[in-house]
Amino acid sequence: TKLDRNTVTRMIKHALHAARRAFSPGLRCFSEASGGEISEDVFERAGSPRLTKQASLYVHWPYCLRRCSYCNFNKYIPRENNDPMMTECLQRETETLLQLSQVSCITSVFFGGGTPSLAHPSTIAAVLESVSRRAYLSDKAEVTLEVNPTPVGKSKLEDYCRAGVNRFSIGVQSLQDGDLKILGRDHSPHQALQTVEEARRLCPGRVSVDVMFGRPKQSAESWENELSELLRVCDDHVSLYQLTLERGTQLFKQVLGGEVTMPAEDVTAEMYQCARRTLHQHGFLQYEVSNFARHKAVSHHNTSYWKGRQYIGVGPGAHGRFVPRGEGGVVREARTQTLEPDVWIREVQQRGHGTRRRIQLSHLELLEEVLVMGMRMSKGINHKHWELFSPQLGLHEVFGTSNDIQELLQSGQLILDDRGLRCSWDGLALLDSILPALLVMLERQISQRLQRDHHADGQTKRISNPQ
Ligand SMILES: C[S@@+](CC[C@H](N)C(=O)[O-])C[C@H]1O[C@@H](n2cnc3c(N)ncnc32)[C@H](O)[C@@H]1O
Ligand code: SF4
Repeated sequence: TKLDRNTVTRMIKHALHAARRAFSPGLRCFSEASGGEISEDVFERAGSPRLTKQASLYVHWPYCLRRCSYCNFNKYIPRENNDPMMTECLQRETETLLQLSQVSCITSVFFGGGTPSLAHPSTIAAVLESVSRRAYLSDKAEVTLEVNPTPVGKSKLEDYCRAGVNRFSIGVQSLQDGDLKILGRDHSPHQALQTVEEARRLCPGRVSVDVMFGRPKQSAESWENELSELLRVCDDHVSLYQLTLERGTQLFKQVLGGEVTMPAEDVTAEMYQCARRTLHQHGFLQYEVSNFARHKAVSHHNTSYWKGRQYIGVGPGAHGRFVPRGEGGVVREARTQTLEPDVWIREVQQRGHGTRRRIQLSHLELLEEVLVMGMRMSKGINHKHWELFSPQLGLHEVFGTSNDIQELLQSGQLILDDRGLRCSWDGLALLDSILPALLVMLERQISQRLQRDHHADGQTKRISNPQ
């Protein structure tokens, strides 16, 4: 029997909720470059009582100078300067959650937002000091900061590097002045290019640019020209996001009211394919649905999300996934911090953290996340990766027997072989339509396995305890 559409949608939503940034707007990464101390061997089995000792850290800066018309991230326009208080609370929550997780090593740090390039560089330094007080943070660990490419953002880059940042992710979004205005951005294309140049001077090979396609009135032709221009100036990493129309945004209202029109779906699909081809021709490998790197400049922080590793989320509205070992926990939890900065500040001051929601993940939910996130990578999920989370049911056992999946394999969208499970080049563009069949099969196999185990348990009990 097939799961109904709502259930599948719920499963996908659940699996994607925490990692929203990695989904369409990009999440961030893991590495051999992080000093070599991260290895698969130390990443212990998620279901075993031996618990994970490493995590990445996401820090959310919740303020922006204004609201871009398309954005529904957790951000607020500050009424007053409360930077010292935010700094103190980010430090305190970092230390509390590190203690709670008992991780001994932070493999990467990502300062996202909001607009973290509004934060004072001393705030960034202070949070990194807090990390180092409670866990090992290698000098080589990737520390990324999202930057809005305004003159003020640009002028602070050098100080951010001094504070410990070694990678910048710059929100270029578009190189068309008119489009930036429609999107409500507070910078020009020229300012964006200058910021990229300065970031490349400071962190050569470690600068990423965010660009959005599928913007109002955008044509496939203009997109091609824009991409060529971008490729002349960008560094070794590009995150490419299709503009998503989010409820509650100004753009959503404008589209609903007929003031603004979005490009048709076939046009955005062509834009995506065109970008993939062009980036490939310029030496960029697509390593994830929205992410491209050359010279191996992949985002290690985001890769850790896609590989299902633990992460700690600090700051208003941040999400985390970790086992709270410090209070005797043995199961990974999905954790969300309080959204509203003033309320979050109060909570951190009162109890050391602003965790609003904690949900223990069942084994199935964990595997759903591992599947949905892992399939976003071009390499997909190899057998060893899957086995870390599902030691008893291998990829072939879970996915090898279904007719729906056989069809996907035969049509060439999906590949299941001795390397593991992954999408083909064509399949990656259709991932959202492939996932439901995979999730249905996963759910079915895991529940059958549970029933078999339950039955076997009953048999054992009857044998050992016949009355
Ligand atoms: C939320 S922003 C934070 C960083 C920074 N404030 C900026 O605007 O660049 C991170 C990225 O999310 C992406 N993003 C935000 N809203 C989006 C949407 N509705 N559709 C697609 N991408 C979006 C943008 O590309 C942006 O660079
Ligand atoms: S600056 Fe970034 S986080 Fe702030 S509103 Fe614009 S897109 Fe959203």
